[in-house]
Amino acid sequence: MTKNRIRNETLVGKLLNERYLVVKICTSGSFGETYLAEDVQHSEHPICFVKRFKPTTKNLHLIKVAKLMFEREAKITSSLGNSRYIPRLLATFSEKNQFYLVQEFIQGHTLYSELATGDCWEENQVIQLLQEVLPILEFIHSHGIIHRDIKPSNLIRRWDDHKLVLIDFGVAKLINNDLEEINNSKDHKIIVGTPGYMPSEQAQAHSCFGSDIYALGIIAIETLTGTDTLNLSFDPKTHELSWEHLVSVSSELIAIINKMVCQDYHKRYQSASEVLKALEHYQQKQKSELKFLLLENTSNLIAEQPVNSKSLTNSTSLVKSLHNNNYSNKIFLIGIIVSIATTWPIALGIYYFIWLLNNTDNVPNPSSPASLNQDSSSNKRDTISFLK
Ligand SMILES: Nc1ncnc2c1ncn2[C@@H]1O[C@H](COP(=O)(O)OP(=O)(O)O)[C@@H](O)[C@H]1O
Ligand SMILES: [Mg+2]
Repeated sequence: MTKNRIRNETLVGKLLNERYLVVKICTSGSFGETYLAEDVQHSEHPICFVKRFKPTTKNLHLIKVAKLMFEREAKITSSLGNSRYIPRLLATFSEKNQFYLVQEFIQGHTLYSELATGDCWEENQVIQLLQEVLPILEFIHSHGIIHRDIKPSNLIRRWDDHKLVLIDFGVAKLINNDLEEINNSKDHKIIVGTPGYMPSEQAQAHSCFGSDIYALGIIAIETLTGTDTLNLSFDPKTHELSWEHLVSVSSELIAIINKMVCQDYHKRYQSASEVLKALEHYQQKQKSELKFLLLENTSNLIAEQPVNSKSLTNSTSLVKSLHNNNYSNKIFLIGIIVSIATTWPIALGIYYFIWLLNNTDNVPNPSSPASLNQDSSSNKRDTISFLK
C-alpha cells in the first residue's frame, strides 16, 4: 500500500510517451491504475484519461488475464471508432514494460453517484434510463461486442449533453475472436463480471448479448427499489428475483423488466432492440389510454360549454382539472339562470310603477309645445313616455 502510494506519487508530473503529462491519479485497482494527463503535444493541452496495465499479482495466469484485458479494451474501443456512446481511444503504448491506454476524458459523473442517494426512481425516469442505455447496447452488440460488465459505475453521464457514455471494456468479449483463447484453456475458466449484475450463464463463462440486457434490467430494479439487488432474494418457486412487492409501478413495466432479468437467457429479450420496442409499445398504449380519457372528459364538457382546444394537453392533472371545470361550469350556469329569473320581475315591476305614475298625473298632450318642453326637462320620464 505504502509502496504503491510512493510509486503513484512519483508518477504525477511525469511525461509518458513524451506526450502525456500525468496531473492526477484517479483509481488504483488490482489490474492497474488510472490517471488524468495533459496532452502536451496538442495545441490546446486537453485532459486525457490514461489507464496503466499493472497487475499487482505474482500469479502468472492472472498477469496473462490482465494483459489480455488491456489488449481487449484497446482492440474493442478502437474497433468501435468514434461514437458518442463510448470514449474515443487516443493512443496505446508501452514504456518500461508497462502498457498504457489513452482515452478521451469524459467530464461527468457516474450513474453510480446518481443511485447513491438511495432514492426510488419514478417509472418515467426508469423508462428514460432504459431508453438511454439500450441504444448503447444496440450499438456495441451490432459490432459483435458483449460488454459483460454493465453496471452503474461503468456508465458516465457527460456534463456537456447529459448523455450516458459506456466505459470499461476490459472484460468485454468480441464474438468469434482469438482473444478468447484464454477461456478455452482446460486449466482455467475465467469468470468475468460483477456479482449481482452478472447472470448465471455468464457466471458459467457462457455470456451472450442477453447477459448485458440482464445487467441493465438489474440496474432498473435498483433504481426502482432504491436497493442494491444483492439485498434482494430469489423466489424459491420460480427462482426469479423477487422485487415487485417493493415498488408501485405499472404491471407492464414490471413485466418488461422481469423479461430482461429472466434466469433462463432463452426466455429473456434476445436483443436490445426488442426491449426498446416493448417499451415503445407500452408508451403508445399509455398515450392512447390518456387520449381516450381526455376525449371522454372533453366531450362531456363541450356538451355544456365550449372548451379552448389548446388547453387540452396530455397530463392526468388536466383530466382532474377538467372534472373540476365541469363542476364549476354547472354552478355558474345555475347562478345565471337564478339571477335572470329573479331580476326580470323586479325590473318589470319598476317599469309598471313608473308607467302608472305617468298615466295618473298630468298626462302630457303631445300636440302642445309647452308640454313637450316640460317633458324634455326630465329625460327619464321623457324616455319612458317616448318609449311607451
Ligand atoms: N474515459 C474516461 N473519462 C473519465 N473518467 C473515466 C473514463 N474512464 C474511466 N473513468 C473513471 O474511472 C473509473 C474507473 O475506470 P474503469 O475503466 O471503469 O476501470 P476499472 O473499473 O477497471 O477500474 C470509472 O468509474 C470512471 O469514474
Ligand atoms: Mg469499471
